[in-house]
Amino acid sequence: MLVEVVLAAALAVLLWFAVFRKPEGLPPGRWGLPVIGYIPLTRKSMEEQIVDLHKKHGSIVIWRMGCQLMVFISDYQQAKEAMAKSEFANRPDWDMFTFLEELPLGVGSSNGAHWHANRRFTLRQLRDLGMGKSKLVTGVQEQARKLVERLKEQANEPKPVPHAMKVAVVNVIWQMVAGKMFDMDDKRMKEFDKLLEDLNAATFALGVRDFFPGLKYLPKFVQNRVFGLDRLEEFKEKFFIYFDELIQEHKASLDPDNPGDLIDAYLLEMKEGSGSPDVVRSERDLALLTLDLFFAGSETTTNTLTFMVQYLAMHPEIQTTMQREIDEVLPKGTLATLEDRARLPYTEAVLHEVLRLSSLLPIGAQHSATKDMHFGGYLIPKGSAICTSAMLMHADPRYWEKPEALKPERWLDENGKFTTKKEGFLPFGSGKRVCLGESLARMELLIFATAMLQSLSFAPPKGSTLDVTADPAVPMFHTPRKQDICITVR
Ligand code: HEM
Repeated sequence: MLVEVVLAAALAVLLWFAVFRKPEGLPPGRWGLPVIGYIPLTRKSMEEQIVDLHKKHGSIVIWRMGCQLMVFISDYQQAKEAMAKSEFANRPDWDMFTFLEELPLGVGSSNGAHWHANRRFTLRQLRDLGMGKSKLVTGVQEQARKLVERLKEQANEPKPVPHAMKVAVVNVIWQMVAGKMFDMDDKRMKEFDKLLEDLNAATFALGVRDFFPGLKYLPKFVQNRVFGLDRLEEFKEKFFIYFDELIQEHKASLDPDNPGDLIDAYLLEMKEGSGSPDVVRSERDLALLTLDLFFAGSETTTNTLTFMVQYLAMHPEIQTTMQREIDEVLPKGTLATLEDRARLPYTEAVLHEVLRLSSLLPIGAQHSATKDMHFGGYLIPKGSAICTSAMLMHADPRYWEKPEALKPERWLDENGKFTTKKEGFLPFGSGKRVCLGESLARMELLIFATAMLQSLSFAPPKGSTLDVTADPAVPMFHTPRKQDICITVR
């Protein structure tokens, strides 16, 4: 009997050290059990729990979710330091990111030389297409004009911000990618929009498998039913067919001396070669690169503008000050260009406050550690997913007095000039993978916001208020609540 007890005790100790115990040196937080990780027994949202973890343990915390170790960083300086490291620049190897492609393609999910080449290529396109009075600026202005006309149609009738806002933003990406824009009610545009939504939902459903990889060994028909693998393949196929048509059109009209858009430029690189043996150019990569731009650039900009409209409706005095500035700088009918930015400091300040308060990606986009790293006094094991909690930095009282308040003045110096560099502000991320559409997004926000405020005012429906907090039904991505708003024409 004694032998059995001793053996059982030895086994328990062995198991504890080999399997259950949290390894030395890891940041504090939730370790849980092998395979299942830490499953919380609470009704709090994941976001609230992450806030609690930081309050309890400090600026670097862990949470093992299934088999995936997640590391959350809430301190601005540490986040910047982490994001500058090439060892933290990769995306995790999650199906949710790679759309079940064998090799991650495109730019948002790829890694290494391929990511680098696509990132450089896309930034070059943005720079070439988006500077000065370029086609892209004219395109944004045209969309802003159409959006204002559409918003006027619902004047004096309490209704939510219309879908036209998203169409206007998506059209800007269409202009950049394929040199074309669609009418607000175009059938192909609606089809494409639905396809993006379906693809987004289908990839999100794969998340569970990424955290519990054992589930990947379930029979295919079970996975189809539970994770919708077959649906994802179907949507992907539809997407590639949709894009193939577009690519063939571009091939037929390609003028090597005058590439008009991103697809043209990519097709030229396909002919000429990428210049690196590690980077293979392909039509599939081109399609997924553009998909990344649609995914990353449409909801983000649309949601920021919708949050802005809701915030301004709730702060009429700020709205009036902004309109006064816009009226002084831009005579009615004139739309903003990038050159007007310096003359619109209050507008810039409002946009920055909206980006700060909305914190669209509250825990950023996940990165991955490519090797064991020592960071912030802790061990960050290879394969950990790293998240930077923008929502906490944007509410950090060390950087923001009364962080919960919409205070454009905090962005202005004593002469009313806009102060660009501010610590504690990372809406676009930072470092190696900082948002590559940041300059485009800033241009869109400026042109759309000034066009709207020049012609329209926003208010809550009579006798009610608006809730400007994010919709709790959408996890890990701050989305404005769908609620009625009253538009009046100025
Ligand atoms: C208000 C609007 C936007 C916000 C707040 C925003 C924010 C972000 C954030 C936080 C990231 C993650 C950075 C990281 O991984 O650390 C990101 C990545 C990215 N964004 Fe944006 N973004 C916006 C608009 C756009 C637009 C208009 C485009 C392009 C059309 C775009 C394209 C991308 C791409 C391609 C990435 C992935 C970059 C990479 O992995 O190298 N974004 N964005």
